[in-house]
Amino acid sequence: MGTEQTGRLKLLYDLGCAFAARTEIERLIPFVVERCREVLDAEGASVQLYDPDTNELHFPYVAVDDTAVAARLVGLRFPADRGVAGHVLQTGEPVRVDDVTNDPRFYRGIDHRTGATTRNMIAAPLTSHQGRIGVIQVINRRGGRGFTDDDLAFLDALAGSIAVAIENARLYSDLKTSQEHLHAQVGALRRDLARPDRFPEFVGTGELMAEVFQLMESAAASPIAVLIEGETGTGKELAARMIHRAGARADYPFLAVNCAALPETLLENELFGHSRGAFTGAAQDHKGLFEAASGGTVFLDEIGETPAGMQAKLLRVLQEGEITRLGDTRPRKVDVRVISATNRELAAGVADGRFRADLFYRLGAFPIRLPPLRERHEDVPLLADRFLIAAAARHRKRVSGIDPRAMTLLAKFPWPGNVRELQNEIERAVALAGEGEVVGTGQLSPKLLSVVPLASAAASVAPGTLPIELPLAASALPLREARAAFERQYIGASLEEHGGNMSRAAKALGVSRVALHRKVKDFGLR
Ligand SMILES: Nc1ncnc2c1ncn2[C@@H]1O[C@H](COP(=O)(O)OP(=O)(O)OP(=O)(O)O)[C@@H](O)[C@H]1O
Ligand SMILES: [Mg+2]
Repeated sequence: MGTEQTGRLKLLYDLGCAFAARTEIERLIPFVVERCREVLDAEGASVQLYDPDTNELHFPYVAVDDTAVAARLVGLRFPADRGVAGHVLQTGEPVRVDDVTNDPRFYRGIDHRTGATTRNMIAAPLTSHQGRIGVIQVINRRGGRGFTDDDLAFLDALAGSIAVAIENARLYSDLKTSQEHLHAQVGALRRDLARPDRFPEFVGTGELMAEVFQLMESAAASPIAVLIEGETGTGKELAARMIHRAGARADYPFLAVNCAALPETLLENELFGHSRGAFTGAAQDHKGLFEAASGGTVFLDEIGETPAGMQAKLLRVLQEGEITRLGDTRPRKVDVRVISATNRELAAGVADGRFRADLFYRLGAFPIRLPPLRERHEDVPLLADRFLIAAAARHRKRVSGIDPRAMTLLAKFPWPGNVRELQNEIERAVALAGEGEVVGTGQLSPKLLSVVPLASAAASVAPGTLPIELPLAASALPLREARAAFERQYIGASLEEHGGNMSRAAKALGVSRVALHRKVKDFGLR
C-alpha cells in the first residue's frame, strides 16, 4: 500500500474515532476539511452547506493557504443552483472537473470575489437521511497534476460520513435546545408552584382581601370582562395589571386609558384610531388602543365618566368584537380583553340615566370590589413596610423600619385617600428621616397625631364648652405630640361648632385668622 493510500485510510480511521468520541461539530468538520486537503494534496478544500430558507449555499468550513481568501469565503453565499457545487447538490452525483475554463458549470463569481484562481476540482454531495445538505469540494491539485477517479471515489466515501456527522450534530443541538427549553419551563413552573400567592405585589391579608384574591384568580383564568370597583387609591389599576399578568394574555400588552381625562373625540381617537385624512392633520393611519393591545388587555379607567356617545361605541366593541377607525368605513376585528374600573357606584349611574344599562351589563358581568383601607387596618403594617423599603431605595437612604408608636398611629388613621395616601405618608417620612434612623412619630404628618387613643373619663372644662380628653397614659406621647394631638382635635371641634367659619372660630380660639389657617393646613383638617 502506497503512502497516499495509507494517509487516506488513516483519515477515515481518524474520522471514525472522532465520531466515536462525539467530538463537537465545530471542531470535527474543520479537522476533516483540513485533513482532506492534506491527503488529497490540494490547495483548498471546503464544506458548503445548503440553507433551505434562502435557497443558498454557504461556506461554514474552508481550508486554503491564503488566509485572506479564507476570510472572504467564510460568510460568502451564492444561489444553490450555481456553479459546480450547485450542480452536485441538484444531481446528487460527484463531479470531477479537470479544467474549469472549459466547463460551463463553473461559477466564476466566487473567484472574482475572493481573489482565488481555481484550475481544477472534485466535489461530492453530502447526503444524509434528510436528503442533500451540502457539498464537499476540493480544488487545485498540487504539483501540476489533476485529480484522479480514485480521488473522487475517496472524496465521495468521505462525504457520506461527514454528512452523517453533520446531521447527528444538528439533531444533537436541536435536542439540547429543546432540553434547555424544557428545563427553563420546568424551573419557571416549579417557582410558580412554590410561590405562596400569584399576586405577590398585591398586599392583602384579611378575610375581605382573601375573597378579592379568589375573584382575581378566577378572573385571570377566564376571558370575561371584569369591573373593578373601589374608592380612590384602593389599588384598582394594580389589581387590573395583576389579573392581566396572571392570565393567558400576559405576553401581550396591557394598555390603560382614563375615560374621564379626554373629551369624547380625543377619547375615540385614542381608543379606535383614525385613517389618513379623517380630520385636518391626520396625515397618517393611526392605530387605536384596541388594535395596539391586540391579544392583550385594555384597561378602561374611570369608566363611569365615559361620555354618552362613547358608551354606544364601546358597547359595539364588546358585542361585535370589532372597531372602526375614525374616518374609516371598514370595521376591523379586535381581540382584546376588557377590564374597567370605577370609583363610584356604576349601578347608581344607570339608575339616574348617566350610564347605559346595556353597557353596564356587558362590563359589569364580573365585579370585584376592593375594600377601602379603613376596612382592612390589618394590612397597614405590611403595606407600610413595603412602601418604606421602596422609598428608602429611591431616596438611597438607610431607613430600617418604623417604630411601634408610629406604626400604631399609621394603623389607626382612617386614610381617606387609601393605599396611595399611606404610600405618600411613608414617602414623606422617609424624606424626613435621618440616615440610619427608623421612622418615628416625629416624621409623621400632624394629621396622624389626632388619632391617639383618648380616655373618655378625662376631665372636661366648664359646662357648655368642648369636652377635653387626655391621652390614655400620660407618658404615651412626648409633650410636643400630645399637644399637637390636642390642638388638632380642639381646633377641629371649634370649627365644627362655628359651621366651618374661620373668622368666628379664630375669634373664639383667640388666634389670628392667618394662624388658624396655617394650623388647619398643617393638621390636614380641610
Ligand atoms: N393591595 C395593594 N398592595 C400594594 N400596593 C398597593 C395596593 N393597593 C394599592 N397599592 C398601591 O397604591 C397606589 C394606588 O393604587 P392604584 O393606582 O392601583 O389605585 P386606584 O384605585 O387605581 O386609584 P385611583 O382611583 O386614584 O385611580 C399604587 O402605587 C399601588 O401600587
Ligand atoms: Mg386608578
